[in-house]
Amino acid sequence: MTEPNDQQNETTTRDGLFDRLSRRLFFVGLAIMGLIAFLWSAAALRMLFPNTSRRPRGWLTLGPIDEFSTGSVDTRFKESHGFYIVDMRIDGERLLFALSAACTHLGCITGWQSSPGIFKCPCHGSGFTEAGINFEGPAPRPLPRLAIRLDDQRRVQVDPSKLYQAERGQWNDPACFIRLEAETKEVPELAANHPYDGAKS
Ligand code: FES
Repeated sequence: MTEPNDQQNETTTRDGLFDRLSRRLFFVGLAIMGLIAFLWSAAALRMLFPNTSRRPRGWLTLGPIDEFSTGSVDTRFKESHGFYIVDMRIDGERLLFALSAACTHLGCITGWQSSPGIFKCPCHGSGFTEAGINFEGPAPRPLPRLAIRLDDQRRVQVDPSKLYQAERGQWNDPACFIRLEAETKEVPELAANHPYDGAKS
């Protein structure tokens, strides 16, 4: 026969067990909720910035200048390094420059549309002219140019970590364009009537 004291001890032990169990369940629940919140935030950030890029540092050697004198936009380095090489005529002068592919709104990677000849951001619809000037959507400023130069073997080099911004007058810096003297074909004029039109020298 069970004594009253034994019964009380049994009840106390059971209560303690339940207490410990429910505390443990509470913390497990908390951890699961924390994990769900973390995953949800990561997914939300991914939706906001679906396709952003990191910039490599230092000079990259791209290839001989002749490869880039095409009178068009070279997209070969967009995926790997986050920039375009543009060969176009601005104010009667033919220039080669590297343009960041990252949208100036929230950093999504733009795409080149050869017809009508614009860069378009897939995230919120910003558009940029071939020269990189924002003309539609929420992007607040032009795409920056990157440092560009020729090495002693006339190969094009770009440093993606050095940016030149039109709105700060930095497109005047000869470190962000190469003057192409030997023209191989006709290239289009920069679309007119924008405050940054012609900002290059
Ligand atoms: S990131 Fe918003 S328009 Fe490009």
